[in-house]
Amino acid sequence: MDGQLKKLRLAVLISGGGTNLQSLIDRSLAGELHADIVAVVSDRPDAYGLKRAEQAGIPRHVVDYRQHRDASPETIFKEDPGWDLETLDASQRILKEPERRKRLLSLSRLVAAEKQILHILREYHPDYVCLAGYMRLVSPYFIHSLNREGSHRILNIHPALLPAFPGRHGYEDTFAYGCRWGGVTVHFVDEGEDSGPILAQGVYPIWPGDDLEKIRRRGLRIEYEVYAQCINWLAAGFIQMVCEENGRCLAFIRDPEYAKILKSWVKLAFSP
Ligand code: GRF
Repeated sequence: MDGQLKKLRLAVLISGGGTNLQSLIDRSLAGELHADIVAVVSDRPDAYGLKRAEQAGIPRHVVDYRQHRDASPETIFKEDPGWDLETLDASQRILKEPERRKRLLSLSRLVAAEKQILHILREYHPDYVCLAGYMRLVSPYFIHSLNREGSHRILNIHPALLPAFPGRHGYEDTFAYGCRWGGVTVHFVDEGEDSGPILAQGVYPIWPGDDLEKIRRRGLRIEYEVYAQCINWLAAGFIQMVCEENGRCLAFIRDPEYAKILKSWVKLAFSP
């Protein structure tokens, strides 16, 4: 890679095993990722990914959402008057609770935990926040606190070929539906669930007789490649966002090697 490029600073949010995190750490150390992982935040104190961060000497933090159970709509923006919960609720598409009062309560708790994460992240000045097996939805408060001048700053890796199978069970849903191909998607995070602008997708075949674990293993290998490549594209300035007046944005990759890279993912998907 071109040594002149700006190395990105990444904060990685995890909830569990952290194999995506490990792949990013390994590639960063090997000089294959044009980024440094400057901090890891987990929503679970027992996430194994925290150990991986510790072993790599990366600062790590835990934000336990359960500690924010007492946050209420009345208190949430007391010291933050630029925001109000009603506006936030109007723009969010993640909480489906029909009863307004209950929904605002959930939103307050979410924002309270997110405030803590943002407070931590501020110390590290990340260029991008990478969700990697982070099993929480993020609110518009979190998104707009990080996005600058309309630019997208939060990435997610999703284990299905979006817009098919959003949600927490990408591999399970792909398998249960009887799909012949599975896929993974890296996208920017927006106000909905797994609905933000897609940066890249990789696919893998599902063979007769495969079980869920086999396809998960095959898919994860592709996840690691696609996620790292998207970060390198961002570092190289190869991703151009085109936004329409209605706010919907599309991402275009301007890498002359694009076809070659996609072919290498397909080759990997077919390798044993
Ligand atoms: C991955 O499949 C990721 O796409 C999904 O959760 C899984 C987490 O894996 N969101 P790991 O924690 O990176 O091993």
